[in-house]
Amino acid sequence: MQRTARLGTPSDLETVTVVAVIARGDDDAFRVAEAVPARVGDVEIPTSVSTAWATRQGLTSSVGSSTILRSIGGTDVVLVSGGSESLNDLDEWRRIGAAVHKAAGDQNVALLLALDDVTEPARVAQALVEGALLASYRYRDDRDDASELVVIPVGALPTVEFHDALARGVDTGEVVANAVNWAKRLIDTPAGDLTPKELAKRAVQRIEHLPHVSVTSWAESKIEDERLGGLLGVSQGSAQPPRLVYATYDPSPEANLPHVVLVGKGVTFDSGGLSLKSGEGMMTMKTDMTGAAVVLSVLSAVAELQLTVKVTAIAPMTENLPSHRAVKPGDVLTIRNGMTIEVLNTDAEGRLILADGLSLAAELEPDAIVDVATLTGAQAVALGDEIGALYASDDDLAEKFLLASAASGEPLCRLPLFDNYESHIESDVADMKNIGKAGRAGSISAALLLRRFTNSLPWVHLDIAGPGRADAARGYQTKGATAFTARTIVEYIANLSQDA
Ligand code: BES
Ligand code: MN
Ligand code: ZN
Repeated sequence: MQRTARLGTPSDLETVTVVAVIARGDDDAFRVAEAVPARVGDVEIPTSVSTAWATRQGLTSSVGSSTILRSIGGTDVVLVSGGSESLNDLDEWRRIGAAVHKAAGDQNVALLLALDDVTEPARVAQALVEGALLASYRYRDDRDDASELVVIPVGALPTVEFHDALARGVDTGEVVANAVNWAKRLIDTPAGDLTPKELAKRAVQRIEHLPHVSVTSWAESKIEDERLGGLLGVSQGSAQPPRLVYATYDPSPEANLPHVVLVGKGVTFDSGGLSLKSGEGMMTMKTDMTGAAVVLSVLSAVAELQLTVKVTAIAPMTENLPSHRAVKPGDVLTIRNGMTIEVLNTDAEGRLILADGLSLAAELEPDAIVDVATLTGAQAVALGDEIGALYASDDDLAEKFLLASAASGEPLCRLPLFDNYESHIESDVADMKNIGKAGRAGSISAALLLRRFTNSLPWVHLDIAGPGRADAARGYQTKGATAFTARTIVEYIANLSQDA
């Protein structure tokens, strides 16, 4: 972790060498809020700069653009654009946080936050900190020593409630960003280093010490005893044994809290198996355990935030490799719930292990089941690299997720569980086959297969094959792993916790 965050006071300005302020612009000038003092210590902060000059320096109406006023031997001042209108989109606050981090590099930085700009203190502080800390992730830099972001409110003395809300927001932002960055580090780790066994070990290490959490890692013999035929079928081609991590957070077992079960696809490397991918196609397939990393990071964040919801995370983990022992096209696997699947393409492996995971989830009869998977190339064809597909068996649940998605800046688009396409997965020899109609609605037919294992419970399926990786950094999003939907799911659970 490269950066930490805390709420501070003007006296903290002595500990930083970079001060950031937000400037709003029109055709004329970029102005700093009146509440920001014109001078702190020996640092002068301009009240306004001309738009012509600002534009030449890269400070534009685009929120999060910035320029640095360098000082010799003193404190640098960063002007970050807050655009031209008032900020109410939380994603703009995240971009501002990222810009502050980037301008400061390795240095401690203080952001002078004019309170007039802040209508929702907890959410704004959370978004700012998320943006800065998410942007600070570097796979090749896991030093423990961190630089600080100090958020310093300025302006009229805030009420105690307002101040507490800011402090809570900063802490929440830090918990969420740390959880997401933990997931991103796992996802970016080469598959040669992150086998199913190693992934399970690291998950248990992160989760086991958290309050009200119990976690177990199922070894192969347990997976056999529990009859997880999909997971066993996929893993049989690999020399690496499978794992399944089963974790529960229940802060108050007597209270009968709302219960959400999360299921995440944990394919640590997807070669396609005997239906082998192309060389190009498997270059990024260490990413195929994103769903597992996401659900486990969500559980850890929910526990750290002590939300009042019961959460179970189920993460089946395996490699998908070809070998003399590998599952063959035409083989039939029997899933945990007794249904059979004809494997016609061994590269459609995600749905096989999720079928087992969803069967386990349904046995718990929770209030909602959520699965996350880098499931189909067809999802990326339909929606590209920045939008995930959401499928839901329940309109109310879909609505809650779309709200959480909008607040998190992780775009989701609802696609239909179109009943007529059930015919695409009919099999002559089993209850279903694991592929649909070639080149036709491949993300939907995968979702329809998964639905058969949910026992008609309220269920959301997130197919994130496209947005699971970023091919370039963008705002607070770093290149590579994204852990897409982790923040949306935390937001959804936090909202449930408030309702409870
Ligand atoms: N892990 C892949 C999906 C994927 C593709 C994720 C590209 C990220 C980027 C999945 O296991 C897969 O191979 N799906 C097949 C299914 C097909 C054989 C029915 C696909 O989409 O090609
Ligand atoms: Mn595959
Ligand atoms: Zn896969």
